[in-house]
Amino acid sequence: MSETKVNVKKGLEGVVIDTTTVSKVMPETNSLTYKGYPVQDLAEKCTFEDVAFLLWNNELPTEEEAKAFKEKERSYRSLPDSVLNAFKGMDMTGHPMDILRTGISILGTNDKRTWDDSEEVTRDKATHMLAKIPTMIAAAYRMKHGKEVIAPDTSLSMSENFFKMCFGEVPAPEVVKAFDVSLILYAEHSFNASTFTTRVITSTTSDIYSAVCGGIGALKGPLHGGANEQVMYVLKEVGEVEGAKEWMQKALKEKRKVMGFGHRVYKNGDSRVPTMKKYAKKMADFVGEPKWMEISQALEDVMVSEKNIYPNLDFPAGPAYYMMGFEIDMFTPIFVMSRITGWSAHILEQAANNRIIRPLSEYVGPKERNL
Ligand code: COA
Repeated sequence: MSETKVNVKKGLEGVVIDTTTVSKVMPETNSLTYKGYPVQDLAEKCTFEDVAFLLWNNELPTEEEAKAFKEKERSYRSLPDSVLNAFKGMDMTGHPMDILRTGISILGTNDKRTWDDSEEVTRDKATHMLAKIPTMIAAAYRMKHGKEVIAPDTSLSMSENFFKMCFGEVPAPEVVKAFDVSLILYAEHSFNASTFTTRVITSTTSDIYSAVCGGIGALKGPLHGGANEQVMYVLKEVGEVEGAKEWMQKALKEKRKVMGFGHRVYKNGDSRVPTMKKYAKKMADFVGEPKWMEISQALEDVMVSEKNIYPNLDFPAGPAYYMMGFEIDMFTPIFVMSRITGWSAHILEQAANNRIIRPLSEYVGPKERNL
């Protein structure tokens, strides 16, 4: 193999490939804004539905707009029989990300507007997915356990309804708020791997369902969204706060990549972590189980002092979801339930000012030879 002659940007590190108005990541100040608003303020003061509206419409909704948006989302929550019947024929012990990806594929198959990529229709398709993804995740969870599927309740917010569809009841307001905060923090993060995937697919003038299926595939990977599940497996592997520091020291000595730490863009801390950590601690107080946050802190202390590598959002989100009662393989699907908002905003933006995304590579294989 020959040496490379050009400066290859492995992993596209540092490459700016387009402009965006959706969000701004500022690693120098560890901050993130959606349409100009700091994410931590949105998390404290808004609902997830408000933030979805903001990402798709550039402004927070007026009271009237919020009402209309919520009414539409609630009216789209039920799953068509085609999805439920397909789920009945599938192995529900498979990973819920695969089940979800298939569910979106079926929605796309059924939507006769496949080739209508007008902004209005694309927004409507996005709203269908926003409304139906939680129903799919909850239905898959219940079917896996041989339980009756619970129909969506249109009198409830997205977060309240999701808990009810999973567990049969709406938990205490502090649990719902912690969950809603996590959805707001997960909603958008500029040109990350899954969003970039949705933009690449959109750039070919393919449809939004195909783009979202691709996004789900990219998000599933443990280096991206799948990390929130891996974090919980790590915390369980460590098991107790006694020995947690030693566990981390050994992991670093063995050059093990510890999930939930590090970030391509943030090198001095993830803007979303302080807010999520605060709500994960609230969950620990609520359930009266400090162990997971204590282990997390011990691991973080060693990682920061020895490697200067900081936790990312998945690190506090994983244990927060666990303490809310979700099974570990539901964590990344919950990320999808939120990120569908950011993906759709980017899909709309890409389509509005499109040029097919087609980078180059440098060939380093065998020289031309005779057959
Ligand atoms: N645990 C241990 N070391 C880590 C690490 C982690 N989680 N993340 C990065 N590092 C180290 C790497 O080993 C590398 O060290 P080296 O220079 O001595 O080889 C250095 O930090 C740079 O890491 P690199 O993997 O090149 O950074 P990247 O920008 O390509 O990757 C991530 C970024 C997020 C993929 C990477 O940090 C990672 O794999 N983290 C764990 C998965 C995760 O939590 N993903 C969710 C991201 S939001």
